[in-house]
Amino acid sequence: MGWERTERKNRLQKLSSEKSRCRECNGKNKTEMIILGIETSCDETAAAVVADGNKILSSVISSQIAVHYPYGGVVPELASRKHIEAIAPVVNTAISDAGIDSKALGAVAVTRGPGLVGALLVGFCFAKAFSFALDIPWVGINHLEGHINSVFLESDPPPFPFVALLASGGHTSIYHVTSHTRYELMGQTRDDAAGEAFDKVAKMLGLGYPGGAVIDRLAKKGEPKNISFPRPFIDKSTFDFSFSGLKTAVRRYIQTHSDDYLHRIPDIVAGFQEAVVDVLTYKIVHAAMAKGCDHVAVVGGVAANNRLREKIRHDAERKGLTVHIPSVELCGDNAAMIAAIGYHYLKNGVVTGLGDDVFSRVKI
Ligand code: KG4
Ligand code: ZN
Repeated sequence: MGWERTERKNRLQKLSSEKSRCRECNGKNKTEMIILGIETSCDETAAAVVADGNKILSSVISSQIAVHYPYGGVVPELASRKHIEAIAPVVNTAISDAGIDSKALGAVAVTRGPGLVGALLVGFCFAKAFSFALDIPWVGINHLEGHINSVFLESDPPPFPFVALLASGGHTSIYHVTSHTRYELMGQTRDDAAGEAFDKVAKMLGLGYPGGAVIDRLAKKGEPKNISFPRPFIDKSTFDFSFSGLKTAVRRYIQTHSDDYLHRIPDIVAGFQEAVVDVLTYKIVHAAMAKGCDHVAVVGGVAANNRLREKIRHDAERKGLTVHIPSVELCGDNAAMIAAIGYHYLKNGVVTGLGDDVFSRVKI
């Protein structure tokens, strides 16, 4: 491990001067590090080519929604098999879309965890073999750090420090972010993640999978004030969340209105969504105030939610905060965010060894 790390660090230093040169000026004016990002932690096979950690040259996402749809959720074994089928074509497309040859790549960054182990292993082993064949460094990345760094792929990224709300299918947390790679966990969900609550409520109502985007669309046709659901933990002085009671409240509503709830679905999802959005907005705004930060970031799949984007912008800006939310394509799982954070680790000489493995769970 020691030898391998030093050897690879040397190669990395060589890389900034030789391998990745600015495509426009052919290295005469400016040196770039071009990184291939790979993401296979759940149900998307994604690859992207990113220069200097913030310029997306290409981003390809192959979704498995159609595969898992009949089961109402992700089937891990099927996910791994589909990643195996998709990984090589997706990587090849990302490289050709970037208009480069694979020899121009300076390094590979790949999701190492958390996620489904079988799914992670496909991208991780591919990255290992690919970087070995090209004789370039590679680095395993925490998926959650990828989401946090997705804001740096946009044109007006936040200055440090800032607070970030990460709301996805598996995690809902608030971080105080002091650098690209340093985060203090301020609070997190004690049970379901926000995205998980969206998915479970959608399943209860027979709206299909994944539920977040469907509820987002359908809620526009409903009136949130018609059905009021609880705002769990909103009055607590902690930055923790709890969404499982809210999900149970929706289930109880359906049971007590079993004869006519089908006619009220738009109001039910609008009421549910408003409760989630109220809690997420309240917590992130107060977290920023507690830390004296002027900038907040909202990342992860749930950050694609239209009502959440609108409400956080409105409430945070009223308190004088600047809000950073990535474009919808960068909220869900993608490989550009993995390459973006990979750049900062690689720049600091952090690389992954051939003997390293994936991980399924993690806290940052
Ligand atoms: O970050 P992500 O793509 O994958 C994970 O790392 O989990 O997040 C997926 C989650 C799913 O639970 C999905 O239902 C939710 O993000 N989601 C949404 C929306 N789009 C995706 N939730 C609410 N509104 C949306 N528009
Ligand atoms: Zn994610």
